[in-house]
Amino acid sequence: MTAPKALVAGNWKMNGLKASASEISKLNTLILEKGAKCDVLICPPYTMINILVSLKAINVSIGAQDCHMNMSGAHTGDISAEMISDLGCDFIIVGHSERRADHGETNEIVKAKAAAAQSVGATAIICVGETIEERKAGKALEIVTAQIKASIPESAKVENTIIAYEPVWAIGTGHTPTAGDVEEVHLAVREVLRARFGDGGNNIRILYGGSVKASNALELMSVKNVNGALVGGASLKAEDFYGIISAYDKIG
Ligand code: 13P
Repeated sequence: MTAPKALVAGNWKMNGLKASASEISKLNTLILEKGAKCDVLICPPYTMINILVSLKAINVSIGAQDCHMNMSGAHTGDISAEMISDLGCDFIIVGHSERRADHGETNEIVKAKAAAAQSVGATAIICVGETIEERKAGKALEIVTAQIKASIPESAKVENTIIAYEPVWAIGTGHTPTAGDVEEVHLAVREVLRARFGDGGNNIRILYGGSVKASNALELMSVKNVNGALVGGASLKAEDFYGIISAYDKIG
């Protein structure tokens, strides 16, 4: 059984002005000159999508951090999956823990957003992860598997679905789970995917996210059933992000 091709994705969150476009050009050049054994994606704020897509940096796909569940209408300030797709983006993150916490997004909402993304032909990157209280209570597996089951829409297929396991307590903190803990959760995620998609579940990418940086990428990305990373802070600078991408040079 061969693992799916890894994806190293950057989530810029609410960071990046027009001048940050130079980081994408730098990243594209680094990949051109030194290579990349994984797929590479950057999800900037909506305001930068068009600028970054226009760069035509062929080694770096551009995606979005969220979308509305509806395609159009009276939703002031929101952006639809169709609008994102119209700009040429094929990936949309949904259900990030910051959206679940800051905007009260439930599994039901996340599922509707993932369905919206998939309905326009995009791949939904569905984020799940436990809080520190849930982990301390021994409930990490229960929470994560329940989130996945409730957040994957009927429209999900192997080709349009990616799961990102991001323990809430590891995001932006510098703390990461042990490789053993990551392996345990990713195996549980894999089992949910196999139960839902049969053998195809083996081909769905499961990303790890939470304080991934160049110095820990090799260890985390080498864990079984980890098929890439979702990176926040360390994706903002091309050199830092390339340090994570190049971990795949050493992974068979
Ligand atoms: P950090 O890499 O900054 O911990 O953020 C992870 C994350 O939330 C990516 O979506």
